Amino acid sequence: MGGGEKPELFKDGKRLDGRGPEDLREIKIIPDYIKNADGSAYIEWGNNKIIAAVYGPQEALPKHVQDPQRAIIKCRYQMAPFSSLEEHGRTGPNRRATEISKVTKEVFENAVLLDYFPGSEINLYIEVLQGDGGTRAAGITVASVAMALSGIPMRDLPYSVSVGKVGDKLILDLNKIEDNYSDADMPIAMSPKSNDIVLLQMDGNLTKEEIKQGLIMVQKAGETISRIQREAIKAPYERIAERYKK
Ligand code: CDP
Repeated sequence: MGGGEKPELFKDGKRLDGRGPEDLREIKIIPDYIKNADGSAYIEWGNNKIIAAVYGPQEALPKHVQDPQRAIIKCRYQMAPFSSLEEHGRTGPNRRATEISKVTKEVFENAVLLDYFPGSEINLYIEVLQGDGGTRAAGITVASVAMALSGIPMRDLPYSVSVGKVGDKLILDLNKIEDNYSDADMPIAMSPKSNDIVLLQMDGNLTKEEIKQGLIMVQKAGETISRIQREAIKAPYERIAERYKK
């Protein structure tokens, strides 16, 4: 929700990038992107380009942060200084990055079987190379893949996407210009197996009915997002299986 003259976000029933209200941007995930990490992946979600890397579990340090019952998750979301045209340079531990790191960490506290690794820490890094709206959602989605590839046991594979409102129309997966000028923006993360909502934030106002409708749109899109995540996780194993067949 930015200032300045509000551009027309809908033309002939289509969004500026040609999508219908319920269309996702194109999503591609490359698994095992960072060889040094225990698990990693790279996502292109529309014009967002994001890397997620997981290290651990390893002994939590400093010792006073250790939880004798379970592992702790440390998460750092960051935007590269060259990741966006307008607000470049605003990187490092700013308020927004701290908030996104916190909500992302909470998503994974719901997904990872933390009590398997008492006293240890799991480090999750999310680096936005190019940002175009919805980076927290794309970051959570790719981090799920990285976490699964690290071999850390999870009870579910969270995905995330946002839903918002332009005028009286609900739209899925807002890009930056839509994010800036929409009347509402609600990023959501879901645990698909349990159908639990593991993240819900809201900028602007939605009615109860719109929230219900929005959740239905998110769950429908979630089938596609989950499928792309699962294919990315399976790909490295399928490559190995192929090699043994020859
Ligand atoms: O990325 P997300 O939608 O989760 O977060 P946001 O705070 O609603 O930001 C929307 C978009 O604004 C981001 O995706 C970036 O494209 C852009 N942005 C930026 O370029 N620099 C910032 N410091 C903050 C946001």
